[in-house]
Amino acid sequence: MKNKIVAGNWKMNKTFPEAEELLVAIAEGLDEMELETDVVICPPFPYLEMAADISEESNFTVGAQNVSSEEKGAYTGEVSAAMLKSAGADLCIIGHSERRKYFKESDEELAKKTDLLLANDIVPIFCVGETLEERENGTHVETIRRQLRNALFHLDKEDISKVIVAYEPVWAIGTGKTATPAQAQEIHAMIRQTIEEKYGTETAYNMYILYGGSCNPQNALELFCCPDVDGGLIGGASLNADDFIAIVNAAETCQKND
Ligand code: PGA
Repeated sequence: MKNKIVAGNWKMNKTFPEAEELLVAIAEGLDEMELETDVVICPPFPYLEMAADISEESNFTVGAQNVSSEEKGAYTGEVSAAMLKSAGADLCIIGHSERRKYFKESDEELAKKTDLLLANDIVPIFCVGETLEERENGTHVETIRRQLRNALFHLDKEDISKVIVAYEPVWAIGTGKTATPAQAQEIHAMIRQTIEEKYGTETAYNMYILYGGSCNPQNALELFCCPDVDGGLIGGASLNADDFIAIVNAAETCQKND
């Protein structure tokens, strides 16, 4: 039986003291639990080291929200995979729809980011998901399969096994409109099947596929208990320690009842 994973994506929120307060509150909440769930916190770059320090005494690991597609050198403002690793990040979100939309990230760039993360021993949390328009015109399955194929399918079996996929329907992110458990399950099963077609049953079964998009303490339990939902990528609700801990609790409940 796989553990669930709950990852908090803070996006561009919190000042330094606010970030410290939230990290300490989350650490305290987690310390009171006998955790089976793997908890990941993805704060903005400047707080990675602080998060990594606090995580040493607690029960979570630290992830970044982005990485450069270049290895190093004259790329003002960029942050490399090696820098992330040396600051304490063991995971990194890539391909988030906000980055695809506002920063025009392409599948080719994401393939490069994937390779650099893996070369630096960082687990990519690779986001896929369709827009509302794509869902309404029925092209959502093809969109997601293309995103997977173009950025990940050059990897060999060993490397793809290290990747975490996050299904985040764009229409559900920050909108309060969550996918229903049935919608999430359907797409997660399709993602697993797409992996299976290329890499075989064992790799597909072992793959972590997280759900993200307006996940909150009220809907987390139902979503996480779907057979192909291995946990969640949490945006807004990860900015409040009580909500985030309640979501971790939902993952624990599914795990224990499984
Ligand atoms: P949300 O964001 O939970 O605020 O919808 C999820 C995400 O974008 O990772």
